[in-house]
Amino acid sequence: MAISPPSERIWWKEPIAKVELVWIAVAFIWGLVMFGMMIYWHAEGEQNLSNEAYRTTPEMFAKKTNAMVDKYTVRQEAGFPVVRPPPGSDVYLIARLWQWWPILEFEKGQSYRLHISSMDWQHGFSLQPVNINLQIHPGYEMVLTVTPDTAGEFGVVCNEFCGIGHHTMIGKIHVVE
Ligand code: CUA
Repeated sequence: MAISPPSERIWWKEPIAKVELVWIAVAFIWGLVMFGMMIYWHAEGEQNLSNEAYRTTPEMFAKKTNAMVDKYTVRQEAGFPVVRPPPGSDVYLIARLWQWWPILEFEKGQSYRLHISSMDWQHGFSLQPVNINLQIHPGYEMVLTVTPDTAGEFGVVCNEFCGIGHHTMIGKIHVVE
């Protein structure tokens, strides 16, 4: 029984039963299979992105985001600036309690360098309805090259619990023809 001391004090020198060895081997082989699946899903599953991460600070990141918003805002939507940066440019998205800021507008078929960072806390970038997920931390910017191939309105949902307003942390990305 696990709640009483072992009757043989040197329990780790006891011989291992054959069936136990078989289970250890099964668990080890299954662990290798699951490890291989991570690599397989990266290549074939279109889920795990090839993103880059760089050190930054909330102040530096906010400065770059504000400069982009000042330069490329085309209209307002529900109190948020809608920013339409030129194709090929660096685009910044802020995660903070509890919003994704600003709203971005991309052109279909064009590529952008999308930078995402947090001002305060850990958030999760989850692009809906496509299955793209990234963890967003303060002090790091995640950078990915995006080339939207479908026009429409995409939601950005926070998928890391970040407090009382977590469920309201919903952003938006427009993709236009
Ligand atoms: Cu931000 Cu949950």
